[in-house]
Amino acid sequence: MDGIHTFDFWAFYREKLILNSVMADYSRKKESLNGTWHYGIDQYDTCLRNRWWTEVECDENGRALPLDYSFDEWETTEIPSCWNLKSEKLFLYEGGMVFTRKFPYEKHSEDERVFIKFGGINYKAAVFVNRTFLGMHEGGSTPFFIEATDVLKAEDNRIIVAVNNTRHPANVPMDNTDWFNYGGIYRDVELVRLPGSFIKRFQVGVVPGSDFREIFFKVEIDGKMSGTATLTIPELQFTVVIDIENGCGEHIFSPPTIDSLELWSPDAPKLYDVEVSFEGDKLTDRVGFREIRVEGREILLNGKKIFLKGVCAHEESVENGKAVSQEEIRENYALAKEMNCNFMRLAHYPHCEYAAKIADEVGMLLWEEIPVYWAIEFDNPTTYKNAENQLTELITRDINRASVIIWSIGNENPDTDERLKFMGSLADKARELDGTRPVSAACLVDSEALVLTDRLIEKIDIIGMNEYYGWYDPDFSKLPRVFENSNPEKPVIISEFGADCKGGFMNKQGDRNEMFSEEFQLRLYEKQIETLFAIDYIKGISPWIFFDFRCPRRLHHLQNYYNIKGLLSPDKKYKKLAFFAMQKFYEKLLITSM
Ligand code: GCU
Repeated sequence: MDGIHTFDFWAFYREKLILNSVMADYSRKKESLNGTWHYGIDQYDTCLRNRWWTEVECDENGRALPLDYSFDEWETTEIPSCWNLKSEKLFLYEGGMVFTRKFPYEKHSEDERVFIKFGGINYKAAVFVNRTFLGMHEGGSTPFFIEATDVLKAEDNRIIVAVNNTRHPANVPMDNTDWFNYGGIYRDVELVRLPGSFIKRFQVGVVPGSDFREIFFKVEIDGKMSGTATLTIPELQFTVVIDIENGCGEHIFSPPTIDSLELWSPDAPKLYDVEVSFEGDKLTDRVGFREIRVEGREILLNGKKIFLKGVCAHEESVENGKAVSQEEIRENYALAKEMNCNFMRLAHYPHCEYAAKIADEVGMLLWEEIPVYWAIEFDNPTTYKNAENQLTELITRDINRASVIIWSIGNENPDTDERLKFMGSLADKARELDGTRPVSAACLVDSEALVLTDRLIEKIDIIGMNEYYGWYDPDFSKLPRVFENSNPEKPVIISEFGADCKGGFMNKQGDRNEMFSEEFQLRLYEKQIETLFAIDYIKGISPWIFFDFRCPRRLHHLQNYYNIKGLLSPDKKYKKLAFFAMQKFYEKLLITSM
């Protein structure tokens, strides 16, 4: 029959796709919208198709209409959370979910602007307040701010968030990954009040190559386009006023007290209070001043060579899934320090904002990454725009985090022309947004020629290298041959190696060849350590992975839907033998963090 259209209802919502709305909000007064929300399992996205959010409940003659929803009679759940852990019924659910609650609002000032901040929703979300569609966000691990100023009223403001975590080949990541696809509003939801003109973002740091004698300050204003902004660093008894034109201003300066500047490092994570003001608006942050750069095959932190003694980690806990708590983040860093780490690769997507904030405090260097993972649709312009936006939101969010030393634009991507163009553009974008940190990616080895070669290497500053010799390729003798055949001109981080191992599964005869046993994993680690330690252009190691994690692709009876390459059990309570091998190796390493 003609006239029947395949109505792509999402197209209507994509008209208001929110791109890089991230703002500096470290010290903003925020009112939490966390807590009890009603939710409906909306498998067919009917809320969006039939526009439940308009809440049209009567016809033009006032006659009641039959409704397929009853928002305030639905079951409730606590936000932030992953719906997968709410019930057996929802554990493997992938699809649409509608969340709603009401909240009061009292205007505090005439020119006040109000934004709703979502720390992270997996995977995409359309947001409505008081029957008005405010916008849609795509990307499961970066924050977004949505303005609600003009639609709020004194009482009973209804917010509706239609979420969908269905995997799709054109998404970032695509529909096939090696981790669990959690769904939900799994990070904080907050109301942020701002003056009519406000400080949207700022960056402050050591000018690279200035011998730590110069500090730069950049600021972006929303609202009034001109005036002056002030930066104060009280502990340095320093204040500077800069001009704002077209909503921006930047300046390089050298405080008279610059000689007393204490540089940030993992061993001495010194943070300074930094105050930025514009007109009546004032923001503070806690910033570590340090320099990270690459020189030849060396990685230099504050001008000194450093070896990154690391480990990879997903954002997950048994209890909370991807909605990890600050306590769980602190526990991870404490365990990493117990293993003598100074570095963590936050795989394979932006972890929550507290990951970097807490790393700043406790002293942990971080590799942060966007989920351009495996073979995404490199020839799809919409996919590129999505990846670029996630990179932009990550960098904007963590630009002032001293702990973040590497932006990674992806993991294990096939070396094709389309991928080179796609990821080369991402590398350029990262440098455009932040010229103070090296760019990397986890590349693959040419397993035929046994050489570290990838055309992306020319576009990145530090070469991440994933290799699984001794596990996926049982012939361990290939690894030293790869290094003999390779001659990189940049520092290499072994961004992954490892083997599955069921914690507690000991081979009775001590046979180190029994796969999945702790002895097997230990032997592989010992051989990897011995080989890697001898390669002078390796400047960092981050074994895969710190703790076992949920993974729908892992169905061996010892895996039981977990990837068990962890050095720790999923609950991080059990340390496998290989944990102690890494602990001893890192303890002995001569070049430690400065
Ligand atoms: C890959 C990939 C990881 C994956 C790991 C594994 O290298 O980067 O995401 O979990 O190997 O196979 O365990």
